[in-house]
Amino acid sequence: MSQLRTPASTPRTTDPDWWRNAVVYQVYPRSFADTNGDGLGDVAGITSRVPYLASLGVDAMWLSPFFPSPLADGGYDVADYRSVDPRLGTLDDLDALVRTAHEHDIRVIVDVVPNHTSDEHEWFRAALASAPGSPERARYVFRDGSGPAGDLPPSDWVSNFGGSAWTRVPDGQWYLHLFAPEQPDLDWENPEVREDFERTLRFWSDRGVDGFRVDVAHGLAKDLSTPYRPSDEKALPLDGSDPLYDRDEVHEIFATWRDVLNEYDPPRAAVAEAWAPAPRRALYARPTELGQAFNFDLLEAPFDAAAFRGIIQRNLAMSEQSGASSTWVLSNHDVVRHATRYGLPLGADTDAWLMTDGTAPALDATRGLRRARAATLLVLALPGSSYVYQGEELGLHEAAAIPRDRLQDPKWIRTGHTVKGRDGCRVPIPWTTSGPSFGFGSVAPHLPQPADFGASSVEAEDGDPASTLSLYRTAIAARRRLQQGEALTWIDAVDGSGVGVGGGSRVVAFARHDGWRSVTNFGADPVPLPSGTVIVASGPVEDGMLPGETTVWLD
Ligand code: GLC
Ligand code: CA
Repeated sequence: MSQLRTPASTPRTTDPDWWRNAVVYQVYPRSFADTNGDGLGDVAGITSRVPYLASLGVDAMWLSPFFPSPLADGGYDVADYRSVDPRLGTLDDLDALVRTAHEHDIRVIVDVVPNHTSDEHEWFRAALASAPGSPERARYVFRDGSGPAGDLPPSDWVSNFGGSAWTRVPDGQWYLHLFAPEQPDLDWENPEVREDFERTLRFWSDRGVDGFRVDVAHGLAKDLSTPYRPSDEKALPLDGSDPLYDRDEVHEIFATWRDVLNEYDPPRAAVAEAWAPAPRRALYARPTELGQAFNFDLLEAPFDAAAFRGIIQRNLAMSEQSGASSTWVLSNHDVVRHATRYGLPLGADTDAWLMTDGTAPALDATRGLRRARAATLLVLALPGSSYVYQGEELGLHEAAAIPRDRLQDPKWIRTGHTVKGRDGCRVPIPWTTSGPSFGFGSVAPHLPQPADFGASSVEAEDGDPASTLSLYRTAIAARRRLQQGEALTWIDAVDGSGVGVGGGSRVVAFARHDGWRSVTNFGADPVPLPSGTVIVASGPVEDGMLPGETTVWLD
């Protein structure tokens, strides 16, 4: 490439490193805002809310899939990677969204789903219509079955949503799907597959999209040699020897992607969704590959000082080594919202809790939100990039009591109705205190909202200085002002018990620069507040004391 490619739309500022310390807001398009009254969020809805995102102060929005999809997995089953689901809008609508976002200096990150297509993708239809051994089938992973009659799956690999990872087609062959049967896995050894995804990256980059979130990045390279070896995503080895996940060959693919992303000025950013164990996760984030990988450690950690401290130390060290920047995630569209996780007893099984419609064990909603606010404020003080999931800025809890006949998650079906899945964090967010869908749209939404959602709406929280929305706005604005570089210095805890990992202190305190400090009291009892001016606090701070489960930023 002699000349850099010029996209259709560009943000107002051009810093090529914008992603390193960005606050990125995740939009789940079908549950954000519905403008045409069909109960489903749409692209025009997102555009209409860009001023809201600007008022929140975020640097970028990440759009979960908005592509044509039969919705077997919330849009992560893509039927056409270079188009917009007609129920959500048109390509023109998408261009308008990108333009509007850029006018507000908000970048746009698009989700690419390279591990699998939808079973309604034209490639998969062609594969089904073609014979075993045909080039059409070679884009996917079709194999003969095992057992004397070939009527058993080729291997014992299991799908992430439960059940076998193989499904049989009428002529007797089986195809591989690490997720739902409606999500057949692509064969990344096929050059046609590689070329097509490079085309997709350029397609969106040319339209002005600023970056990509890469779904199941650790799954693309597979060892399909026989005899098939067992695979266990939950216990990945640190040597790349699992046949399905986190294999060394996957990095060759992302090195090629980086070349494509660097055809643009500024280079397109990317973040890997790679559930690979640290430190191997850092490989995806190398500057020669995607640049960032999600750090999901906090999704799995309790609200605990030692846990947070250890995770922060490890991840900062890891990203320094790889030349990436750290990422911080407390909630996303795949896990129970963090306000809810922190309000359940330590170690509670959230799947089991959801099966009781959120009744047992009892949720301490107030405490959960108090802790969530403290955790968020801590995370926003860290160097690196913070990902905020739609609705967490309102302090939303998981919608745990969605009627069973309204559930959409393939987990619910694939586990024989024993795991409800992820719909509880995907309920359309409330914009107003009343109305048929609390301002989401003019009719009932595709997933029912809890009756008390209005109290956590944007309308209810806007202008209330004590609201969670105000906390996010104040913190993000202050961070924008204060954030410089990526240095962090630990401070001896205010209770004098030290800061080491495993050190007994229930206070996590660190300084960034020029006197900016963040202090979190993870304990239940108040501790003395260090000296300084309070910039923002996650809860009321009085009489020189920092209350329990509270974070404060000091100057
Ligand atoms: C990722 C997505 C998840 C989806 C899965 C399959 O983990 O975040 O929502 O179900 O990939 O595409
Ligand atoms: Ca709509």
